[in-house]
Amino acid sequence: MLYVNEKLGKDIVTTTGTKDDPFATSPFALFSTGQLDAKILIYKDEENDYVEISASGLKKAKKGVEGLKKKAEKAKTTIAKVESKFEDLKITEDTSLPAANKIKLDKIQENIDQRVQICGWIHRLRIQKSLGFITLRDGSGFIQCVVTGDLAKAKQTQELTLESTLIIKGQINKLPEGKSAPNGVELKVDYYEIVGLAPGGEDAFTNKVQEGADPSLLLDNRHLTLRGETLSAVMKVRAAFLKSIRRFFDEEGLTEVTPPCMVQTQVEGGSTLFKMDYYGEEAYLTQSSQLYLETCLPALGDVYCIQESFRAEKSHTRRHLSEYTHIESELAFLTFDDLLSHLERLLTKTIQYVLADKVAGPLIKQLNPNFVAPKMPFKRMEYIHALDWLNEHGILNEDGEKFKFGDDIAEAAERKMTDTINEPILLIRFPVEIKSFYMKKCEDDERVTESVDVLMPNVGEVTGGSMRSYDLDELLAGFTREGLDKDAYYWFIQQRVYGSCPHGGYGLGTERILAWLCDRFTVRDCSLYPRFSGRCKP
Ligand code: 4AD
Repeated sequence: MLYVNEKLGKDIVTTTGTKDDPFATSPFALFSTGQLDAKILIYKDEENDYVEISASGLKKAKKGVEGLKKKAEKAKTTIAKVESKFEDLKITEDTSLPAANKIKLDKIQENIDQRVQICGWIHRLRIQKSLGFITLRDGSGFIQCVVTGDLAKAKQTQELTLESTLIIKGQINKLPEGKSAPNGVELKVDYYEIVGLAPGGEDAFTNKVQEGADPSLLLDNRHLTLRGETLSAVMKVRAAFLKSIRRFFDEEGLTEVTPPCMVQTQVEGGSTLFKMDYYGEEAYLTQSSQLYLETCLPALGDVYCIQESFRAEKSHTRRHLSEYTHIESELAFLTFDDLLSHLERLLTKTIQYVLADKVAGPLIKQLNPNFVAPKMPFKRMEYIHALDWLNEHGILNEDGEKFKFGDDIAEAAERKMTDTINEPILLIRFPVEIKSFYMKKCEDDERVTESVDVLMPNVGEVTGGSMRSYDLDELLAGFTREGLDKDAYYWFIQQRVYGSCPHGGYGLGTERILAWLCDRFTVRDCSLYPRFSGRCKP
């Protein structure tokens, strides 16, 4: 029994022909179900509901089935013809063309009007019947490639997918006025090969990493999200920043060293230590290479390192990671004022170099169009005056009270102050009790230390540093104050025995600097594979 309802029925292959799911026409009902002898019931009206089809109606319907069959046959052969035409198109290289010079995409401008070979990943794709646009990405740049004629019609081209890898040959042409594509050029493809075809359909790249997807899903797929324009741009800026800061250190005469990551001493408090079993002994992942850098001064002079530091931070904040790239340096025979000036030079010059970098400069403009490069001298503010500022602006301490001497200026308060002042600040002279055991006390006020935090708008603290206690007794008092076992630090303490000297240094959080420079909401967006509590993969 097949039900047909002209108004509410549907002539599609999934229609079943029941009373709840009727066809729209009788011929289609017979054709679609193949039940040529079935009884057909036609909807008449509310009063009569469904009535059996008339004899003439049935005759007409059967005739209609013949017409539908012919139509279907015709469609089938057309599809087969088109398919076989596409199948038949073998992509071959025209050997009479000039040889293609293999280039990376950062060399496009030097190769305009040349036939070149490029290799990369399909970043964007628009394939029509006889015209296709492929944006290829090779990590050094992007280029729009145009595929026309038989090359576009080939089955292989019609079935290309995003993130597939290709070798493409063709000529790079300047785009005519009014047309736009990356770098104002287009590559006219004359030949290409597929190196690795990425899946389409359900497993397609776009189904794996969708913009606006749950952040934890995107982090599970970090290996794929890294290919996106924003994350890869931040990573390029990161590389330029590390290159620039090495250039600065080189200009200032510092030597790079590589201290160990597996250690048996703490630097910044026991609560954030990652403990590990080191062949049966207790050891930790380093929190800071500072103590090792201090030991290098008599051997190598001023030194720096770019090393991972590890902090078991329980709190989930936008600026804390469990592993971060720590840039630390240690400088001998200098005053606190020298240290502050050195920090100003470091930040202004390094940022100047990054902005002038031909890859990173334009990316920063894209990521952070309103970025203002820091200028010397920075605003210097004593901790005690910061408390006044916070109290005057009605910002409360962690207990919800007015700030008093000795209070830690926690992240939220520090951010409010930095964002309001909206320029780099050197916050100096913190109280002894809220700073580390190794910090030198100020000679004019023993309650405070020769310490500094560099604060940047939108992020807050990006660098922490200080002059170090170089007097043996002052240092040992620091150990006692913090309840640290002196024996484990014998090698560090001996620095104050075998030729002590005034010295100081600092640590700079690479991801925090990048969050400021690239205007990222969190430091997680500035690390290749971020680590924080609950996340240690991929
Ligand atoms: O202020 P911190 O803890 O200072 C030290 O480790 C010193 N021993 C460094 C030195 O003087 N050689 O850390 C220094 C910087 C901070 O200003 C911050 O930028 C960054 O390291 N930092 C972190 N970045 C990301 N995630 C974390 N959990 C961080 N902890 C510190």
